[in-house]
Amino acid sequence: QDNNFQAIIAHAKEYGFVFPSSEIYDGLSAVYDYGPYGSELKKNIKDYWWKSMTQLHENIVGIDAAIFMHPTTWKASGHVDNFNDPMIDNKDSKKRYRVDHLIEAHAAILEDQGKQQEADALLQEMDALLAKDDFAGLKKLIEDHKIVCTISGTCNWTDIRQFNLMFETQLGSVTDEASTIYLRPETAQGIFVNFLNVQKTARMKVPFGIAQIGKAFRNEIVARQFIFRMREFEQMEMQFFVRPGTEGEWYKYWKQVRLQWHLSLGLPAEKYRYHDHSKLAHYAKEACDIEFEFPFGFKEVEGIHSRSDFDLSQHQTYSKKKMQYFDADIDPATNKPYGNYVPYVIETSIGLDRMVLLILSHAYEEETIQKEDGTTDSRVVMHIPEKIAPIKLAVLPLTKKDGLPEIARDLMDECKNYFRCFYEEKDAIGKRYRRQDAIGTPFCVTIDHQTKEDNTVTIRYRDSMKQERILMSQVKDVVMNAIA
Ligand code: GAP
Repeated sequence: QDNNFQAIIAHAKEYGFVFPSSEIYDGLSAVYDYGPYGSELKKNIKDYWWKSMTQLHENIVGIDAAIFMHPTTWKASGHVDNFNDPMIDNKDSKKRYRVDHLIEAHAAILEDQGKQQEADALLQEMDALLAKDDFAGLKKLIEDHKIVCTISGTCNWTDIRQFNLMFETQLGSVTDEASTIYLRPETAQGIFVNFLNVQKTARMKVPFGIAQIGKAFRNEIVARQFIFRMREFEQMEMQFFVRPGTEGEWYKYWKQVRLQWHLSLGLPAEKYRYHDHSKLAHYAKEACDIEFEFPFGFKEVEGIHSRSDFDLSQHQTYSKKKMQYFDADIDPATNKPYGNYVPYVIETSIGLDRMVLLILSHAYEEETIQKEDGTTDSRVVMHIPEKIAPIKLAVLPLTKKDGLPEIARDLMDECKNYFRCFYEEKDAIGKRYRRQDAIGTPFCVTIDHQTKEDNTVTIRYRDSMKQERILMSQVKDVVMNAIA
């Protein structure tokens, strides 16, 4: 499993999906850059999410709020006081660990040793202690299990302390006038503070939603696992404002609709599961994760949270501005309008980078191919869903002469208005096919001498490697049908 994950990371770098940030300076821990194919993939996922959440839901509109917000926002939201993780330092290596990650890593080692029951018991005990914020109990658990620091190899731990995950910076050029502000740790608050601006200007009626895609920042302590846990990452969030009392049914609705979104990409249902939370974040009334089976096990990719009126009420208290909505619909119980209330919120929140990792993990295959002559060959192929593949079509003239490149160029000119295409005339055709497999291009079209006679081309399908001849005039529609 781990080898497979390492292979995916190496492949992502070699084929221009993901690079370590500022790599020439040896990188920056848990910060990554997206290369030519990674940035296309990421953008396609964004567009797919945005379309399904806004265009296909008439009662959801978008915003694009700033990363910097008034510092009181984070006081009101609870992040200044509660956005903490229990941390522990190793006295010898001076390395700091998030307590849950340290214990989880130890449980993974126990699992590898075949001690599944012991691992399960450890994690259960950890969950119970975390739910009670029992730091002395957690420290004892670490000591009882002789959990060591991987750097020093010792079990010489400090007491457990809370550590805030928000990045701070100063606003303004004059130091003494500068006030501390934060890089937002979630995009959601930009939506909450704009609730009335959006409701009034877009003339929205409850129930309605506000969607947003943007960067968020967290000073994660254990930031490993590639782009799974980053310090700078992107979220795609939607807050759905509902009448109090209806939040239960909307929570169920969004749980189901969001899982369906993943499956609509053709991703396998058996790799997904829900994880209902028992320990809730400071804002949540009910919460669950949509988990995916990554190469390192089932992990959260998206959260669905029933946040009650917590955020809007908090902002009402701190800003002293009303955050109420007037509901003119008639309440059958009283025969009067529902009137003024602070709406309840169901939130769907997915990590864009985590979704990229999900796609890379799902897509990567080292395939052995049985050839007709009895020998075998191998290829690395990325089975990226067609709709979000970085390149949809590769146009490949068989040779560089005899007018074939010109015909290929005509096809490029026709298709590149509709979807991302790639033109290549160098190297043997087999080699060119392999390169397209490695970046997940679903269709390759080869222009050969027969094309000049009958206007047909060879189309090759990435997953089956099957080839067939079709009219060149059909190519655009074949691709369009697959990505619609
Ligand atoms: N507004 C709610 C919220 O932020 P969260 O569960 O803390 O909830 C939502 O985060 C999603 O954001 C997660 O399911 C995950 O996909 C993504 N995410 C959170 N922290 C991340 C990190 N450090 N790196 C990458 N993605 C992260």
